Amino acid sequence: PRERTFICVKPDSVQRGLIGDIIKRFEQKGFKLVAMKMMQASEELLKAHYEEHAAKPFFPPLVKYMGSGPLVPMVWEGQGVVKMGRMILGETNPLDDQPGTIRGDYSIRMAKNVAHGSDAVESAKREISLWFTDSELNSWSRCD
Ligand code: CMP
Repeated sequence: PRERTFICVKPDSVQRGLIGDIIKRFEQKGFKLVAMKMMQASEELLKAHYEEHAAKPFFPPLVKYMGSGPLVPMVWEGQGVVKMGRMILGETNPLDDQPGTIRGDYSIRMAKNVAHGSDAVESAKREISLWFTDSELNSWSRCD
């Protein structure tokens, strides 16, 4: 199967009207959108998603913020999409970014860095299975 990554538009970016631009940047690069929804995440889901950060001081505010409104989780597919997805998003700290990346263009705050993206193929698999059921993952080959 083709490489996939998990991208999630964070709550304040939904409120700021950034969903379309984030989708556009992945589409124009040539990646395929295979799953997307709009939802409010449970505390349980967010704690599982961010489990590697459970001991960090920013974990409680991070989980609270991510649960503060609807977010837009997505799955994108294509060769090299995990690494390129991180490049399209930019650095975790938007202050380290040049304009041109999503975070470089839209944020100066680490805690509100616009969108999340998986950092490796294995974490992408884990995150996709947390947020989506198999039947929610679409196959483009059926349209060919
Ligand atoms: P994200 O890619 O969603 O993964 C973990 C998130 O924690 C990160 O983006 C930031 O939004 C948030 N965060 C807040 N403070 C920090 C910090 N000091 N270091 C790393 N991530 C942080």
